[in-house]
Amino acid sequence: MKIIVFGANGQIGKIFIDKIKKEGKHEVTAAVRKEEQVKEFQANGVNAQLTDLEGSVNELAELIKGFDAVVFTAGSGGKTGPDKTLLVDLDGAVKTMEAAMEVGTKRYLMVSALQSNNRENWNKKIKPYYVAKHYADRCLMESSLDYTIVRPGGLTNDPGKGKVAVGQQLERGQVSREDVAAVLLACVDDDSTIGKAFDLTEGEDSIARALETL
Ligand SMILES: NC(=O)c1ccc[n+]([C@@H]2O[C@H](COP(=O)([O-])OP(=O)(O)OC[C@H]3O[C@@H](n4cnc5c(N)ncnc54)[C@H](OP(=O)(O)O)[C@@H]3O)[C@@H](O)[C@H]2O)c1
Repeated sequence: MKIIVFGANGQIGKIFIDKIKKEGKHEVTAAVRKEEQVKEFQANGVNAQLTDLEGSVNELAELIKGFDAVVFTAGSGGKTGPDKTLLVDLDGAVKTMEAAMEVGTKRYLMVSALQSNNRENWNKKIKPYYVAKHYADRCLMESSLDYTIVRPGGLTNDPGKGKVAVGQQLERGQVSREDVAAVLLACVDDDSTIGKAFDLTEGEDSIARALETL
């Protein structure tokens, strides 16, 4: 599969791209927003394209054309205000969905956030972030795309354990970025995850076993 990754220069994005390269089954392209990031990926043998999620649907469609799958792991981050959360995490994500549909790219994998589907459990301090994640996920679920939505708990930089829990309403918990990237890759390779949206934390099951329970 030809896969394009939005948020490729981010922490999950970089680990995911490393993993996909090592697995060797797919062709991956990093969509990044700075020229120096393009050069850095290319220097490491990874295709890279300049993009900005604040750009137009047409620009994004031009970029996505020819890819089989989109992975969205971008986010404006905790240091920006709710305006950027809206523009990147919500509208940026939805524009990539519209663009993917326009050019016939069917597969779409989203990195969301634990319990973003459940308003009652949103962290009050970062409600706008949950609103953005919630509505981006809803747009994706209502689209014609072959989606998988992974909703990880608090992200850590611990080494991956390869042991996770998945479910519809997991207790608040953590998960390493490496395990999130491994789950994303497993989902790319497993069409039974199409049409699924699930919380993800560290847990007891192997990734393959956990995905079987969805
Ligand atoms: N932190 C948590 O505990 C937590 C929990 C659950 C889910 N998540 C979600 O997990 C995902 C990835 O997390 P992470 O730690 O890998 O995040 P990260 O390191 O902050 O990566 C986010 C990436 O998005 C890119 N980005 C931001 N604005 C952009 C724009 N306008 N156009 C193109 N790219 C843009 C950033 O580009 P630059 O590199 O140029 O800045 C960065 O590479 C995010 O969606 C986040 O919301 C986080």
